[in-house]
Amino acid sequence: YQDLIVAPSLLAADFGRVAEETSRAINSGGDWMHLDIMDGNFVDNISFGPAMVETVHATNDVFLDVHLMIQRPDHYLPRFVAAGADMITVHVEPEATHDVGATLAAIRAAGVKAGLALNPATEFESVVPFLDQIDMLLCMTVVPGFGGQSFMGDMMAKVERAAAIRAEKGLSYHIEVDGGVDPDTAPICRAAGANVLVAGSSTFKAADMKAAVSAIRGE
Ligand code: DX5
Ligand code: ZN
Repeated sequence: YQDLIVAPSLLAADFGRVAEETSRAINSGGDWMHLDIMDGNFVDNISFGPAMVETVHATNDVFLDVHLMIQRPDHYLPRFVAAGADMITVHVEPEATHDVGATLAAIRAAGVKAGLALNPATEFESVVPFLDQIDMLLCMTVVPGFGGQSFMGDMMAKVERAAAIRAEKGLSYHIEVDGGVDPDTAPICRAAGANVLVAGSSTFKAADMKAAVSAIRGE
């Protein structure tokens, strides 16, 4: 978790040119691709499913960071593994309707990295029991469902706690932030201890994507 990782979010890309958009993100300095899966139930929007993950996987060799904003993630898990996900992140909230510990174990048993996400309204305490079972903690910095929303700076208290507990317990999970990350808010995230920065609108919709990724990285 020492290296800074920038993960452009496909949600902000041109869906008519997914392969080209992914290549553009990689060529612009993106390290991972962040893929937002929304089911219209856990969040109030519908995005895309395993077929899209498979398409990105088939056309590019990039690390796929799959963010499941869905109910019953345990049920759909095998399909995202088969589609080529490298990291699968599930939500801790009861509305995601699964046994969080069992799902995290199932993700790792499938040979994939396991992430756990918490919404802005969710207390940090709810993820604490799972911190020794994860490869990444995702602190949402917007209410999930849509790209292009404003960054919630208050969430940095959670990032700081996640970094402190990691050091205290000798753990090694990544800390990811997602929502409203751009060249202005990225330094706040980095200073708090986040090392994986998801950025949708601020990268794909930038006039110069390469410059935007560099600026988010702090270069
Ligand atoms: C929000 C998604 C984000 C989204 C971020 O529900 O989880 O990954 O793509 O978009 P921006 O960077 O535009 O806020
Ligand atoms: Zn996301």
